[in-house]
Amino acid sequence: MSDAAAAGTFALGDRLVNRLGYGAMQLAGPGVFGPPADKDAAIAVLRDAVKHGINHIDTSDFYGPHITNQLIREALHPYPDDLVIVTKVGALRGPSGSVHPAMGREQLIQAVHDNLRNLGVEALDVVNLRSMLRDDGPAEGSLEEPLSVMADLQRQGLIRHVGLSNVTEAQVTQGRSICEIVCVQNLYNLADRSDASLVQRLALDNIAYVAYFPLGGITPLQSATLLGVARHLGATPIQVALAWLLQHAPNILPIPGTSSLAHLRENLAAAVLSLPASAVKELDVVQHSL
Ligand SMILES: NC(=O)c1ccc[n+]([C@@H]2O[C@H](COP(=O)([O-])OP(=O)(O)OC[C@H]3O[C@@H](n4cnc5c(N)ncnc54)[C@H](OP(=O)(O)O)[C@@H]3O)[C@@H](O)[C@H]2O)c1
Repeated sequence: MSDAAAAGTFALGDRLVNRLGYGAMQLAGPGVFGPPADKDAAIAVLRDAVKHGINHIDTSDFYGPHITNQLIREALHPYPDDLVIVTKVGALRGPSGSVHPAMGREQLIQAVHDNLRNLGVEALDVVNLRSMLRDDGPAEGSLEEPLSVMADLQRQGLIRHVGLSNVTEAQVTQGRSICEIVCVQNLYNLADRSDASLVQRLALDNIAYVAYFPLGGITPLQSATLLGVARHLGATPIQVALAWLLQHAPNILPIPGTSSLAHLRENLAAAVLSLPASAVKELDVVQHSL
């Protein structure tokens, strides 16, 4: 069994993926803008991820922009049959890297075509409609217009499956009334479980909850409890944080990001790490003490 397969599988639409995925955002240059300092290293990380059973890669054409998708294409095209590439639309980059909402009809159509071209495919496996965040998380508001555009693009055969990102429970409910939603990608980790009820609700309907920032993202996880549990199990804190997510709910698909081959291997090892009940109990209260 490959490393990532040890985490078990979950359905993304009509495709089964290994639950431990990979987020490609870190492969672009600093600030997710421009090319990476070491292109060969970025390509090596992508190839190693797939070699070790990762078959769910998260990306976007606004990473770089365009660069991350072009790296994925150069490293992995023609793609293995079991690989599911999930991209996202809804934002554009300014000339110096700023991120702006881009949810208009023409902008979404353009973004889908940019993804198709840069990934080198005729149809995108999964496309998340990604809303902009406010400081305190996802912002309420109707997604009817942009999601209807996504549904049109799906009917045209350019998108196989539709997902949502940076959304509230109300937006998930609204979205599901417009088209089938196969995944919700929001921020979730040991320290931030604002979405706990959404995770459970989606689990009941067998919808994937894709956890971004599983390692804390721009605020790396830091906790004495996490360190203690890791030391006791002979694992690293990052492996424990990923294993906790995998055990937390069956529909959670973590997508840790890294530009480092050594970190990738460390993260993959979380797929085989089984946390005893006593460790889970300790970790379950971490968010209150951070
Ligand atoms: N939908 C959205 O709005 C949204 C927002 C943010 C991210 N995402 C997606 O979620 C994915 C994950 O988010 P993320 O990459 O920002 O955050 P993350 O996975 O929580 O953490 C990544 C950070 O941790 C470091 N790291 C990774 N493995 C490590 C290890 N074993 N030891 C030490 N450091 C390690 C990485 O640096 P190194 O490169 O040095 O390893 C990077 O700085 C992204 O790649 C992207 O695909 C989506």
